[in-house]
Amino acid sequence: MPPRPAGRTVGGHTARQLLALCELVGLDAGESAGYARALTDALGPVVHRSLDLPPAVPTFLADDHTPVEFSLSFSPGAAPSLRVLLEPASGFGTPAESSRLGLRALRALARRWDVSTEKLDLLQDLFLPDDPQGSFSLWAALELAPGGAPRLKAYLNPAASGPDRAGDTVREALRRLGHHRAYDSLPPADRLLFLALDLGDWATPRLKLYTAHHRLRASVVGALNRMADGPSPAETEAFLYTAAGLPAGHDGVFDRRPVLACHSFTDPEADRPSGFTLHVPVRDYAHDDREVLGRAEKLLPRYGIAPDVLRDALGALTPRRLEDGVGLIAYLAMVHQQGHDTRLTAYLSSEAYRVRPPNRRPSGPRPAH
Ligand code: TRP
Repeated sequence: MPPRPAGRTVGGHTARQLLALCELVGLDAGESAGYARALTDALGPVVHRSLDLPPAVPTFLADDHTPVEFSLSFSPGAAPSLRVLLEPASGFGTPAESSRLGLRALRALARRWDVSTEKLDLLQDLFLPDDPQGSFSLWAALELAPGGAPRLKAYLNPAASGPDRAGDTVREALRRLGHHRAYDSLPPADRLLFLALDLGDWATPRLKLYTAHHRLRASVVGALNRMADGPSPAETEAFLYTAAGLPAGHDGVFDRRPVLACHSFTDPEADRPSGFTLHVPVRDYAHDDREVLGRAEKLLPRYGIAPDVLRDALGALTPRRLEDGVGLIAYLAMVHQQGHDTRLTAYLSSEAYRVRPPNRRPSGPRPAH
């Protein structure tokens, strides 16, 4: 590996990447600068931390513990939407301190654009208790919309009040938010991973629940969807097969990182979710990023989307060759939401700390018969 240039910091590295991606999706320079400032303010003092030091905390937000991850969400006929996921006030002290400071940083973000955190306030004691447990407390995501005001999302940890109480914690949260029938509409899952809230002024704010499905067989993936007019099992399967590089007619088991599903709820009266997303952790099921990009280049045109922005985004994030690592694209996701075109989302790693070397072959899901 060539030596790193001296003086690189967490903030400098991720803000530069953010600005490059903003330019790529056509945001103007003024709003992009505002978004980069929001990112570095929300990260807190870790922005000044040298990348020559080890990560301040082993956050699992990204595999190499960078407290930032980008994503591009593509719909047919529209500019891609750029989002950034971050750990607010990353790297601070004990879990209790980091939870408290993270919340303060999120509130500061919300105030900046006059976003209401009312729903989060209702759940604070459940997810941000004085002695939080689990692997994280609070993440925030900004959807960097044109116009200079982002849409804000909060990600909470169902295990915060104890891993064995995750189900009860989520049930109580849904009750408080009025979604009385949501919990029972979820598919059987190994783990509830995140509860996410759209904060503030969305046309239809969503409450989202992420479920993990360990050792999923590709042939049964269609059963994970619980929304009424969601994708057919054949469509979900086709997405998964292409994303994972599984040849048609061959079943496979995802025995490394689990496939995730996200179920979104908008109408409290409804007894089923209004959205379904399938997240495929492509980095565990491919040899290298060249291969992953090739799969995305097959999937995007199926949904009427040109793949060139994704290709350019990878180049904007890093000068490395795609075949020299895996994980620059962490997940590929298919997003169905009532009333909207199907979207495809690519989650993009900063790789501030580390490039994961290519996987050994064979690298796909384990063959199953
Ligand atoms: N890095 C974690 C994971 O892979 C959390 C995470 C980051 C994640 N971005 C994500 C999970 C996007 C699902 C989708 O699980």
